[in-house]
Amino acid sequence: MSNRTFTMIKPDAVKAGHIGNILAKIADAGFKIVAMKMTRLSADTAGAFYAVHSHRPFYQELVDFMSSGPIVAAILEKDNAVEDFRTLIGATNPAEAAPGTIRALYAANVGENAVHGSDSNENAAIESNFHFAGCDMFAY
Ligand code: CMP
Repeated sequence: MSNRTFTMIKPDAVKAGHIGNILAKIADAGFKIVAMKMTRLSADTAGAFYAVHSHRPFYQELVDFMSSGPIVAAILEKDNAVEDFRTLIGATNPAEAAPGTIRALYAANVGENAVHGSDSNENAAIESNFHFAGCDMFAY
């Protein structure tokens, strides 16, 4: 799974109408979409997805935000996918994100930061399997 990563376009970016621009940046950077859906997370599902952060002070804010509106979830394929995607999206805090990165372009603050990207190959597999069944991941 080292050539795959998992992403979500978060409620802020969906609401602002940035789905198309963000998907274009992803495609232009050489990622292939192998699974994708638009959905809305319940508070329970968002809480389970971010359970690793459950002891952090921002956890409830994160769960509330991630369940506040529709998201786009996707699995992306490319050599060195996890690292290259994190470079493409920029730092978690958009104020620190490099110019031209997705978060620098479309994110407002560290909480509402437009996109999620897996931070390791192991988490890419866990997060992909959290959102998608194997039959909804495509090789083409
Ligand atoms: P993400 O890459 O989806 O993974 C965990 C998320 O927690 C992160 O993006 C941020 O949106 C959020 N997060 C991290 N730090 C903070 C913070 N200090 N305040 C609010 N949200 C945060």
